[in-house]
Amino acid sequence: MAKIIGGITTSHIPAIGVAIDKGLEDTPYYRDLFAIYPPIREWLGEEKPDIAVLFYNDHGLEMWLDKKPTYAIGCAPEYQNADEGWGIKPIPPVTGETELSWHIVNHLIENDFDPTVCQDIKVDHGATVPMTLLWPNHTYQGIKVIPVAINCERHPMPKPSRSYAFGKAIGDAIRCWDKDQKVVLLGTGGLSHQLDGPRAGILNADFDNWCMDKLVTNPEEITQFSNVDLIERGGAQMVEIAMWLAMRGAMGDGIPEERMRNYVSPISNTGVGVQLLIPQD
Ligand code: DHB
Ligand code: FE
Repeated sequence: MAKIIGGITTSHIPAIGVAIDKGLEDTPYYRDLFAIYPPIREWLGEEKPDIAVLFYNDHGLEMWLDKKPTYAIGCAPEYQNADEGWGIKPIPPVTGETELSWHIVNHLIENDFDPTVCQDIKVDHGATVPMTLLWPNHTYQGIKVIPVAINCERHPMPKPSRSYAFGKAIGDAIRCWDKDQKVVLLGTGGLSHQLDGPRAGILNADFDNWCMDKLVTNPEEITQFSNVDLIERGGAQMVEIAMWLAMRGAMGDGIPEERMRNYVSPISNTGVGVQLLIPQD
């Protein structure tokens, strides 16, 4: 049977990708941020997961306001990136895992979730920046990826409690997949940030840290908040914690070991939280 070996949360700020391209990792602004990742890469190097189920949001590349699936799942053999408005970044595509994608889709629909199935979809910084951070030089070390998109752009957005439940159903699907494969979960985006409007630049370190505490011990407390509550506390893009909740839901009910936690704020406009959680079974 497939096994979930861990869950990683990380921001997907596009400026991080630019900093890597420009070799700015060791500059005063970025040093603390980039110091977070080597131990996680080491863990990935030791554990060698076969598949990453990557929860992200599409910021408008494939799914703009005119067609916005609430939940979408990649069922493609590979995922290319594309031009987000600054030219195409020449990075290799990530490889898909269509058998597990379809298994998840079938399981979800049997269990009353109805995601959009995407057999041909490009991915944006929500997926490419975490991949670049965790597997440097675009090697990806042979890992296969299943991107799962959650609407964080257009109201009405799914309730945080629904994204948590959606993640739980995906976790159940992975655990009953009849293949001896190791799966790592990635929850990308967040934490507090707002990119435009009068409250642009808002950050809330206290709330971010509370969310990281609760993500480990009692994620259902986070799901008590509506999206409006989240926006009030952490800015318009705080809703991206939906991907963290889905990731944590997929890990299962037990309290995971928090192997690592870091928080750096701000990077660009964002309070950046990073956690490595290991399920205890
Ligand atoms: C930033 C953060 C995001 O989550 C995003 O999608 C784009 C930009 C930022 O802080 O600059
Ligand atoms: Fe984002």
